Amino acid sequence: MLGSEDGFEGLIQPNRLVKLTPASVQGTLPKGGSILGCSNRANPFAYPTRGARNKEKLVDVSADVVRRLEDHAVDCLVLVGGDGTMAMGKRFLDLGVPVIGVPKTIDNDLAATELTFGFDTALGTATWAIDALHSTAEAHDRVMIVELMGRYAGWISLCAGIAGGADVILIPEIPYDLRRVIHKIQDRLAAGRRFSIIVIGEGALPKGGRRSHITRAKRGHLPRLGGAGERLARSLEGKIPCEIRTTVLGHLQRGGSPSALDRLLGTRFGVMAARLCERGRTGDMVALRAQEIVTVPLEEAIGKPKLVPPDGELVATARAVGIEVGA
Ligand code: F6P
Repeated sequence: MLGSEDGFEGLIQPNRLVKLTPASVQGTLPKGGSILGCSNRANPFAYPTRGARNKEKLVDVSADVVRRLEDHAVDCLVLVGGDGTMAMGKRFLDLGVPVIGVPKTIDNDLAATELTFGFDTALGTATWAIDALHSTAEAHDRVMIVELMGRYAGWISLCAGIAGGADVILIPEIPYDLRRVIHKIQDRLAAGRRFSIIVIGEGALPKGGRRSHITRAKRGHLPRLGGAGERLARSLEGKIPCEIRTTVLGHLQRGGSPSALDRLLGTRFGVMAARLCERGRTGDMVALRAQEIVTVPLEEAIGKPKLVPPDGELVATARAVGIEVGA
């Protein structure tokens, strides 16, 4: 069993493959993050390399990866990650490499599985943050906005918002109407509720508007989202008689000791992946469906992200308990 340090980096650079033994993985259950590290730059099909005049260019080094796997007599490449990782897995599969996928992302946006591991821990942290923000909101009669991660999917925001008792939840899948947000806050004021909690996903956008970005998409890289909360705060200023504060939870959602559910899910996924390796069955991703660990073809997991259905039960539940979802 070999571990590749920093994602595919370990299969591209020399001396970055480490032997994994029962002793070397002991005690990892309660640890957050990754003992091997990870990378969102090490794409073997578009690997950043310095060319003439030190200019960066993207090079296809996948053949080197295949050679390295052969040199180490690797029977199966087990890839742990989200949509991008699974898409690379499919490309290696097409090159004849036996691949098994394991779904991991806090965004929970991978198609073909009901849950990815990492999501539940992020959800717990986000819910804790909403609980904690209630103290200042109530004490100072403020509108507190909290911006949560999830990229183009609103799973973390919607679930944490419901669990934390938010008054407004704005998610990327439902472009919001600012007037509805203002009405909600005014209705609460009229009912003697002098504070409000607004949860906003980093990918949320006003009707007819755009997403907020920190950096634009660069070659081979997704844009960095950010600023949705602050933009909302600015557009509310002067329209409601309350002070507004914004909190961006950021990478706190990606750290800390994993929840029991994530430990259990990671272990169940891992055991199924090991069984598939033993049986020589590849080309699949392990997945959770109707509480069971199952396998699905890798191609089912890629391409189309799993987004919150705007007319689904979760959004209806939020509305039913009086939460404003912005449209
Ligand atoms: O995909 C997971 C995720 O945490 C997103 O929710 C977020 O937009 C992104 O990664 C942040 O990426 P980075 O750590 O590279 O800024």
